[in-house]
Amino acid sequence: MTGFPSKRANPNKIAIFENTICPDEEVGIDDLSIYVPDLFLSAAGEFSDLRGIDSAKLTRGIGIERMAIPDAHEDAATMAAMSLLELMQRNSLSPKEIGKIYIGTESGVDEAKAIGTYVIGMMEKIFGKGAFQDCCTVEFKSACIATTLALESMSFWAAAEEDDLVGVVIASDIAKYPLHSPGEYTQGAGSVSLLIKRRPRLISLEGNYGFFTRDENDFFRPIGECNAVVNGKHSNQCYLDAMQGAFDVFAKRSRKKGLIMPKTGECITDYVSHLIFHIPYPRMVEYAASAIFRHEWRGLPRWNAVEAEICEEPKAKAYANQDDFLAAEADFIKRFAKSSPFQEAFKAKVKDTTMISRQVGNIYTGSIYLGLASLIEQQKLKPGERVCFGAYGSGCSALVFSGLVQREASFIPLRDIEKKLNDRTQISLEEYEKLHEGKMGRSLFSPSQEFALVGIDRQGYRHYDYAE
Ligand code: HMG
Repeated sequence: MTGFPSKRANPNKIAIFENTICPDEEVGIDDLSIYVPDLFLSAAGEFSDLRGIDSAKLTRGIGIERMAIPDAHEDAATMAAMSLLELMQRNSLSPKEIGKIYIGTESGVDEAKAIGTYVIGMMEKIFGKGAFQDCCTVEFKSACIATTLALESMSFWAAAEEDDLVGVVIASDIAKYPLHSPGEYTQGAGSVSLLIKRRPRLISLEGNYGFFTRDENDFFRPIGECNAVVNGKHSNQCYLDAMQGAFDVFAKRSRKKGLIMPKTGECITDYVSHLIFHIPYPRMVEYAASAIFRHEWRGLPRWNAVEAEICEEPKAKAYANQDDFLAAEADFIKRFAKSSPFQEAFKAKVKDTTMISRQVGNIYTGSIYLGLASLIEQQKLKPGERVCFGAYGSGCSALVFSGLVQREASFIPLRDIEKKLNDRTQISLEEYEKLHEGKMGRSLFSPSQEFALVGIDRQGYRHYDYAE
C-alpha cells in the first residue's frame, strides 16, 4: 500500500496518519545515537552566583539547567567518532555497509582536511586499517543548519543507492562564547549520528522542503577566532524571520504536492503532531512556536477566541509612529505566548522536544536532533504521526521539512539518555574557566573507553587514539 491517507485528528491534538508503510523508494532516519561529554557545569549555583545572574533567569528565562563541557582531550572529531561508534554498535553495522559519512560542524578542527578523515582514522583503530576505504566523507559548514543540509543531500543519495549501502550524517559541535558574555549560558557540546537509509524504521522523509536565506551579521566566527561573534537579540529576530519564511514555502509546497490539504478553518500545523525547532536554548523554541502558530491561526475562526482572551492584534496603521506600534507588538507577543490556545498547542506539539537540551545546552548543528531524541526517549512518537522540523543556521538560513513516524519506531531500543545525563560529573566554575580558556594543560579526567586527542604535532596534524 502506498501513500498516506487522510488524518483523523482535531487541531492541537495528536494527528495520526494511517497505513504508514514506506514504499521501497522512501528514505529517512532509521536510528540515531547521541554523545555528550561527561563533564557539566550547573547553570544555577556557583555559575549564576558569581556571574551575578538570578538563577531563575537561566532556568526559566533561558530554559537551561546544565551545560555540557568537553574535557581537554575532546573536540568535534572525538565526539563525532563516539556517536558514530555507538550508532554502529546499536545496529551491528560493519564499515563495509556504510557508503557515505557526511559531517555537519562549525567547530571544525582543520581549515582543509575533512573532519571525517580524522573520524575514519579513529574508527579504524577499532575496525582495522583500511576498513572504511570504500567510504566517502564530506564536511558541511553552514552554521547550525549544516547537518540538516547534509541530511537532505544524503537522502537523495540513499534513495538512488543500488548496493544497499547506508549513509551516516553526523552533527558534532562545541558551542562556545566569551566568558561573562550573554552567550555564555547558552554553551554546550555534543554529537548526534543519524543512520539514513531506504525503508527507515524511525522517520520517513516526505521530500518536502521549504528554504529561506538572507545575508546577516547575527552570528559568525571569523577565521582564526575560537569564540563566535554574536549579536544576541538580533540573532533571535533573524531566527524568527527565517523560520517563518521557510515555513511559508514549506506550507505552499505541502499544498501544491497534495501532502497536506487543510480544510476550511484549518491550517498546516493541524496536520503536524510534533514541531521540532533548532534549540540554541530551550526558550527559543517557545518564541519560534509562538511566531508560527500566531502566523498560522490569524484569519481562522479560532483567532477570535485568541483575541477575545488577550486583546486585539495591533495593526501598524492604527499607530501614530513606529515605536508605539513596536511596543504594542512586543506586548501582544507576550500575551499571546501566555494565552490558553497557544499554551495548549505548545504543550501538545513542541514542549517535549527540549528535554535533553535543558541538560546539555546548545550543540549547534545537532541541537535540532536532540529535539528528536527527546521525543523518542520520552516515547512521545506514535506510528503515523507527522513530524515537522525547523532547522536554523546563522548567517542566515532556515529549512523546514517533514517526515512520518514509522510503525517499527516503537521497537527500536531506547538509549537510556536520561540516566547517562544524570551520571555525568559536575565541575567547578574554576575548572570550567580553565578548560574554556585552554589553560587546563591536561585532561581533568584521564580518558577511559573513549576516543581522545593525544597530541598535535609540529605541522599541526592531530593524533587520536582509543583509550581503553
Ligand atoms: P539575554 O541578555 O540573557 O536576554 O540574552 P534577556 O535579558 O532578554 O533574557 C532572556 C529571557 O529571560 C527574557 O524572557 C527575560 O524576561 C527572562 P522574555 O522576556 O523574552 O520572555 N528573564 C527572567 N526570567 C525569570 N526570572 C528572571 C529573569 N530575568 C530575565 N529573574 C540571548 C539572551 C539568547 C540573546 C543570549 O544568551 C545570546 O546572545 N545567546 C547566543 C545567541 C543565541 O543563542 N541566539 C539564538 C538565535 S540564533 C541561533 O539559534 C543560531 C546559533 O545556534 C548558532 C548557529 O547557527 O550556528 C546560536
